[in-house]
Amino acid sequence: MRQTWTFHSAGQLVFGPGAADQLGELAGRMRLKRLLIVTDRSLVAAGLLKPVQGPLAAAGISFEVFDGGEPEPSLDVVERCLAQARPFKSDGLLGLGGGSNMDLAKIAAVVLTHGGAANDYFGEDRVPGPVLPLICVPTTAGTGSEVTAASVLTDKANQIKVGVLSNYLRPQLAVVDPLLTVSCPRTVTADSGIDALTHAIEAYTAIDNEHFPLPPGERSVYQGRHPLADCLAEKAIELIGRHLPRAVESPGDLAARENMALAATLAGLAFSNVGVALVHAMEYPVGGATHCSHGAGNGLLLPFVMRFNLPARLPHFARIARLLGEDTTGLGESDAALRAVTAVERLKAAIGIPARLRDLGVTREQLPLFAEKTLGIKRILRVNPRPVTADDVLGIFEEAL
Ligand SMILES: NC(=O)c1ccc[n+]([C@@H]2O[C@H](COP(=O)([O-])OP(=O)(O)OC[C@H]3O[C@@H](n4cnc5c(N)ncnc54)[C@H](O)[C@@H]3O)[C@@H](O)[C@H]2O)c1
Ligand SMILES: [Fe+2]
Repeated sequence: MRQTWTFHSAGQLVFGPGAADQLGELAGRMRLKRLLIVTDRSLVAAGLLKPVQGPLAAAGISFEVFDGGEPEPSLDVVERCLAQARPFKSDGLLGLGGGSNMDLAKIAAVVLTHGGAANDYFGEDRVPGPVLPLICVPTTAGTGSEVTAASVLTDKANQIKVGVLSNYLRPQLAVVDPLLTVSCPRTVTADSGIDALTHAIEAYTAIDNEHFPLPPGERSVYQGRHPLADCLAEKAIELIGRHLPRAVESPGDLAARENMALAATLAGLAFSNVGVALVHAMEYPVGGATHCSHGAGNGLLLPFVMRFNLPARLPHFARIARLLGEDTTGLGESDAALRAVTAVERLKAAIGIPARLRDLGVTREQLPLFAEKTLGIKRILRVNPRPVTADDVLGIFEEAL
């Protein structure tokens, strides 16, 4: 059956070095008067609050700062953020940071608008309507959360990452200012950058929209591959192959930072419409148990999952190899496709992503539970181009050990 695809984004996307200077005017046009800025202490210490506060203050917009964000935010952090937000009665939220702070601002907006607690909204399309106006200002080039429909949190009790997925979570305004990423430490640049590559590759090789197996009555923000997302993913892969190593090695290289910021947003636009797949489904239990960063977990697993998915998407992987700068002249399709895997392996090593699960302290005994948890994440697994069994997942985890 042929389906119809759609495309969602942030309401407005403003991109460019110095774009944060426009925040006051942009927030004013949204008629915002009281903003809660959701951020963390490391970013305050890095001086990143100033470029946001200055333009807001100049435009007469009052604000309060919640600086208690943390990487891979837990449900406790959400509660602490809400405790500050409720009495302040803001008319909008501004997420300033990497995916962690932006996702915290998103879930806080949901709960402030619709009540209850974060876990009432876990899963697909459970947010009942629009939320308080959201502005997202990324300081990493990675998650694309500034344009996506997701908020990802850590459920510590069950040792797993959980997601809230709803098109109501797309920010009304995304302001992507590459200058804000220049202070990213090396590991944050590397981990968030390879997360963006994972988004682009998973979107580009996902199951086709035509064959997206959404059971009757179920809704999803994901819809499988489609032509518009393909363009975005291709460009993102090319930019990341060219600019990620340089952004890691030379943090002050503005061209590398700007290209990575663009790539991460393009990858976010692609995956948040198409879906992410097996790499992400396998990373959620790994991240939940080891507390590695989301990007490090994804980057570690990416080549192993690519190898598994290769037979289902040979021409696409061959194209990825070329986008990553590989010369595939004279190679047959499967050899050309394999070059995509080796290119990602080389990139991963060059930027210092852990090679194997044992480098994160994972033991063989943990793998069956990881595999079981992965198989439970059906909303993502159905995006994968190749169907996966319990044995397949365990096999990939064993290879990655
Ligand atoms: N919402 C989505 O669509 C989506 C997509 C992918 C991942 N995620 C989630 O996003 C989170 C990861 O986000 P991330 O990779 O952007 O990292 P992050 O937000 O977790 O930030 C990592 C660390 O880097 C610091 N940092 C960030 N920017 C900095 C800067 N410019 N200068 C100095 N320090 C800086 C932060 O303070 C933090 O300590 C995970 O929880 C992941 O699951 C969300
Ligand atoms: Fe991701």
